[in-house]
Amino acid sequence: MKIGILGAGAIGTAVATRLLAGGHQVVLSNSRGPHTLADTVRELGPGASAADRQEAARSELVVLAVPGDRTAEALADLPDWQGRVLVDATNDYRTPAPGAGEPTSSEAVAQQAPGARVIKAFNHLFAATLRADPRRPEGNRVLFVSGDDQEAKAMFTTLLTGLGFAPIDLGALAGGGRLHQVPQGPLVGQDLLRLTDNRAQ
Ligand SMILES: NC(=O)c1ccc[n+]([C@@H]2O[C@H](COP(=O)([O-])OP(=O)(O)OC[C@H]3O[C@@H](n4cnc5c(N)ncnc54)[C@H](OP(=O)(O)O)[C@@H]3O)[C@@H](O)[C@H]2O)c1
Repeated sequence: MKIGILGAGAIGTAVATRLLAGGHQVVLSNSRGPHTLADTVRELGPGASAADRQEAARSELVVLAVPGDRTAEALADLPDWQGRVLVDATNDYRTPAPGAGEPTSSEAVAQQAPGARVIKAFNHLFAATLRADPRRPEGNRVLFVSGDDQEAKAMFTTLLTGLGFAPIDLGALAGGGRLHQVPQGPLVGQDLLRLTDNRAQ
């Protein structure tokens, strides 16, 4: 699958590394234009390319990996989402703890991308951890996922499993998203393994 990435910093390139290792293609974008991503594309290797935000956002699956205070800007003036899947990897430190009934940061992102099927993922671990092979000798790295669209989550968790992660669906963005919302969510920073003996493989 060709996957678009909005934001090509620590988290965008970490996710790109895993996707490329899984045989996918990635289209990276940033705020300054594709010409600034030549070194990044070269370092990532075959399967990686750079484009403008609009082109990256046309992909069937798009990962949002920009600073939490830049999401509105990054999602502005994009092609109609028409049900394409947007994976929100961002953390918004401006509103650390939404009160009961207040939108979580990924619900706020969903409001900025009308028509996108938004999934919250890749936000609860450090980029260096995500970049590493999730298949450890003792088991597979757990990734928490939340979202309101079951079909989108099924497609995404299948992709994650293919990359060697062990996805755990926490439910909808409102309830589940709160559990892995940075910084106070109880699952933030939990680097867990689903135990399985990978040494035999
Ligand atoms: N670093 C981590 O360990 C980690 C872990 C989990 C989640 N996160 C979250 O992931 C997000 C990104 O963090 P990061 O550490 O990867 O940041 P980063 O290294 O500073 O990279 C940010 C990227 O976003 C791009 N960007 C900024 N504004 C943009 C816009 N309007 N349109 C398109 N691209 C834009 C930047 O491109 P330009 O340089 O061209 O502006 C840059 O490529 C944050 O929300 C952070 O909370 C980070």
